[in-house]
Amino acid sequence: MKTIRFGVIGCGLMGREFASAAMRWGHLPAMDVRPEIVAICDTNQDLHAWYRAHLSSVRQVTDDYRVLLANEQVDSVYVAVPHHLHEAIYCAAIRAGKHLMGEKPFGIDRPANERIMQCLGEHPGVFARCSSEFPFYPALQRIGRMIDDAAFGQVIEIEAGFLHSSDLDPNKPINWKRMVEFNGDYGSMGDLGMHVCHVPFRAGWTPRTVRAILSNIVRQRPDGQGAVVPCETWDNATLLCDVVDPSSGEPFPMTLKTQRVAPGEKDTWYLKVLGTKACARFSTKNPKRLERLEYDGGEQIWGQIDMGHETAYPSITGGIFEFGFSDAILQMWAAFLHELEHGQLPSTFAGCVTPEETALSHRLFTAALQSQETASVVRVE
Ligand SMILES: NC(=O)c1ccc[n+]([C@@H]2O[C@H](COP(=O)([O-])OP(=O)(O)OC[C@H]3O[C@@H](n4cnc5c(N)ncnc54)[C@H](O)[C@@H]3O)[C@@H](O)[C@H]2O)c1
Repeated sequence: MKTIRFGVIGCGLMGREFASAAMRWGHLPAMDVRPEIVAICDTNQDLHAWYRAHLSSVRQVTDDYRVLLANEQVDSVYVAVPHHLHEAIYCAAIRAGKHLMGEKPFGIDRPANERIMQCLGEHPGVFARCSSEFPFYPALQRIGRMIDDAAFGQVIEIEAGFLHSSDLDPNKPINWKRMVEFNGDYGSMGDLGMHVCHVPFRAGWTPRTVRAILSNIVRQRPDGQGAVVPCETWDNATLLCDVVDPSSGEPFPMTLKTQRVAPGEKDTWYLKVLGTKACARFSTKNPKRLERLEYDGGEQIWGQIDMGHETAYPSITGGIFEFGFSDAILQMWAAFLHELEHGQLPSTFAGCVTPEETALSHRLFTAALQSQETASVVRVE
C-alpha cells in the first residue's frame, strides 16, 4: 500500500471531513494508495486540538502555511480556506511542488483562477484537482454510466441545482461566506456553483450563452456582536444556459440554480436529465432514490430504483445499505488518490473536478454577473 503524506491547510468544516475520511480508509478494500495526514495548519489554534486528539500521524502543527509547505515530508496538500486566500495558498503550494486538492471555487474570481491555472501550467508535475463530492452518490454514478452509454438519446433539457434554506432566517449571523471581501462577487455561485456544474461539464454540456437572474434577498444580518451589518452577496442565482448536445449536435436549454434562500431545502443537490430515449433524476433529498424513464415507443413510465452502496470505489459497506454525505467525501478522496497514483479514472464520472473545469465555471459565473448587470444574454467565453 503506497502512502501519500498530506498537509491540511484550513482545519475548519471541510478540513475535518478529510481527516475523518483518512481515518476510515480501511473502508475501501480495493485501494492500493492511502492518505496519511502528517501536518496541519490553521490560523485558529483552537482547531488544532481536535486533530491532535484524533490523528496520531500528525507530526507538524503550525499557523503559517509557508512553514507547512516547506516541509519535505509533505507530498500533497488539501487547502480548505476562505475564497480570498485560494490564489495565494494554491499558487504557493504548486510552486512548492505539492500535489493539490483545492476547494471550490478555485480562486475568488476569474483573474485569480487564471493565475492559479498559469501556475499549474508552469508546474506540470503537480497533480491538482478541485473538491466536489456529490457525483459520487451511487445514483449519480449510474446516471454517469447512462451518459457514457449514450442512453439518453438526444438531450431535451438539463436541470441541476444546489439549494440551501438556512439563510431564510434573517437573524442568522453573517459569516465570511456572506461577505463579498472573503466569498467574492459570485455570491452563491462561488460557493455552490462548482457542485452544480461538475456533472454537466464532465458530460460535455458546455454553456455557449447564459441569461442569469441573481437576487440578494436578505440584505442585512446580525454580526454576532450586537450590531446589524449589510449582507451584499447574491443569495440566489438562476442561470439559463444554451448548450449544444455533443452527441446530436442539437441545442438544448440547461438551467442551473444555486440558492441560499430556498425554503425547506436543507442541503439539496439535484440533477435532472431529459432525453428522447431515456430520462433520469436524482436529488439528495431522497439519497438512495434514482428515478428513471426509458422510452421505446410504449408507455412513458417513471420508475424508482433504490440504490444501495453501489460505489465507484469498492467499499466494505454491504451493497443494500444507504449512502450518505461522508461516504461521498470518502469516495471523492479515493478518486483523488486513485487518479494521482494511476493517472486515470475507473470511469468518466468517478473523478474530482479538473482545473480546466474550474476555469470553465469561472467563465460561466463571470458571464452570469455580466448578464445580471446588463439584463441580457451573455456569451460564455
Ligand atoms: N466540498 C464541499 O462540500 C464544501 C463545503 C463547504 C465549504 N467548502 C469550501 O471549503 C473551503 C473552506 O470552507 P469551510 O466551510 O471549511 O470554512 P471554515 O470557515 O469552516 O474553515 C476555513 C478555515 O480556514 C482557516 N484559515 C483562514 N485563514 C487561514 C490561513 N491564512 N492559513 C490557514 N488557515 C486559515 C480558518 O481559521 C478556518 O478554520 C471554501 O473554499 C469553501 O467553499 C466546500
